[in-house]
Amino acid sequence: MWVLCLATLIVISITHWVYRWRNPSCNGKLPPGSLGFPLLGESLQFFTPYTSSDINPFIKQRMNRYGPIFKTGFAGRPTVVSTDPKFNHLIFQQEGEMFKSWYPDTLNEILGKQNLGSLHGVVFKYVKNMVFKMFGPEGLKRMLSEVDQKACTTLQQWSCQDAVELMDATKRMIFDLTAKKLLSCDSKETLESLMANFVSFMEGLISLPLYIPGTAYYKCLQGRKRAMKKLKKMLHERREEPRKEESDFFDFVVEELSKEGTLLNEEIALDLMFSLLFASFETTSLALTYAIKALSDHPSVLKRLEEEHEAILKGREDPNSGLTWQEYKSMKFTLQVINETIRLANIVPGIFRKTIQEVKYGGYTIPEGWAIMICPPAVHLNPTLYEDPLSFNPWRWEGMEMSGASKHFMAFGGGMRFCVGADFAKVQMAVFLHNLVTKYKWRPIKGGNIVRNLGLRFPDGFYVRITEKDPWKYESE
Ligand code: HEM
Ligand SMILES: *[C@@H]1O[C@H](CO)[C@@H](O)[C@H](O)[C@H]1NC(C)=O
Repeated sequence: MWVLCLATLIVISITHWVYRWRNPSCNGKLPPGSLGFPLLGESLQFFTPYTSSDINPFIKQRMNRYGPIFKTGFAGRPTVVSTDPKFNHLIFQQEGEMFKSWYPDTLNEILGKQNLGSLHGVVFKYVKNMVFKMFGPEGLKRMLSEVDQKACTTLQQWSCQDAVELMDATKRMIFDLTAKKLLSCDSKETLESLMANFVSFMEGLISLPLYIPGTAYYKCLQGRKRAMKKLKKMLHERREEPRKEESDFFDFVVEELSKEGTLLNEEIALDLMFSLLFASFETTSLALTYAIKALSDHPSVLKRLEEEHEAILKGREDPNSGLTWQEYKSMKFTLQVINETIRLANIVPGIFRKTIQEVKYGGYTIPEGWAIMICPPAVHLNPTLYEDPLSFNPWRWEGMEMSGASKHFMAFGGGMRFCVGADFAKVQMAVFLHNLVTKYKWRPIKGGNIVRNLGLRFPDGFYVRITEKDPWKYESE
């Protein structure tokens, strides 16, 4: 008899639990949508891979059914998804007031509890400023010739190979360069092993968080552990023997750590180094690979790009002088190509926040403590903001500055959490494209298929054969 009672009790409490999850209390009208099941929410549907370059079908279906703002459940949390450009803008502007940066616990476990995304207030501003000194315009001006050199020698190496897998190869190039700027690390072995740890780290980033040997998540955390150990050792060596002249980010960190009353500590510094290496190496390489694929598919864009860069070479007094900052600034069409690439690549599929007070918007009420996911692809592929949104058309950016387009472009986030590496990524891409289209031609060999599960992926890689252009072509002109 009591077994039956117990069974009934369990059924009742589970039903109650599901009911409570599905009908959260709220002092107003919640956005429409289903929270799915407790713990899981609708995560599985959201993570289903798809091959189109359009908005994730999970999001698109719900936009059609519920409108631009709806609720769902991710990883055991009620979450409001925003595909509304105006609301997104408000969320970015209200950082620290109505919303704050928030990422799922597993991500913080992986990126470090003190990573920039989970710092707030004064410490956040302080650390962000530090990074900006390195990767803001002044820092970039100083490193331009290095970026140019790196692109030049890398392309030379690639042109000696039968085929280059661009995802892997661009990752390597960008990782080397970033590691050099951050750590002055030139040693091939150290770079190789750091990078290997980052690769296993990436693979686990979007896996189920099971900390059991053999799982991707386990490998990921192990990768982080090893990379952090290396970084820590480097930092200690540097602290014991500070270098005379500051030249990389590590010197800068050491200097800051030694100041009295500094807000920086070793843990923040190490998590920061780790996030910077991570943030730069996966994102920019994806964008660059996507750009080269788009150029392969759109000869008219490539032709216009070549014209812009050949004009730069022709305008030089000394044809062998390296790229200058003015020349970089003059690459108008190139920056349109980069904007268009980043708009369509949609490398970051969601930006997370949390409400820190009850928020009312558009007739809806979002309770305090709920997660918010801003969905940039839904804005970038919105046909009322971008005509024929799926086509790769760099010319659409002509004169866009005037029309307040920046509110409709959120690939780098917005407000005070705006990506600190945005200009660095653009410089690297522009300089690389400059070297590529002036000296080389290429032909896709295999791969290049795109799958999206969360982010953009090239599951079979993208192989190209790169060859030098006929050097006589310019001299005869
Ligand atoms: C195409 C390349 C890139 C894309 C699409 C991209 C995208 C983003 C986005 C969307 C955010 C905002 C996240 C949020 O609001 O929560 C962000 C933040 C950030 N990005 Fe990037 N990023 C790129 C390249 C880079 C590079 C090269 C670096 C390294 C220097 C970098 C470092 C960072 C850092 C440190 C943050 C955190 C800023 C903060 O919390 O205030 N990113 N990025
Ligand atoms: C690229 O997009 C940004 C953000 O909308 C905009 O401010 C910038 O002017 C665009 N650049 C070009 C060359 O169109």
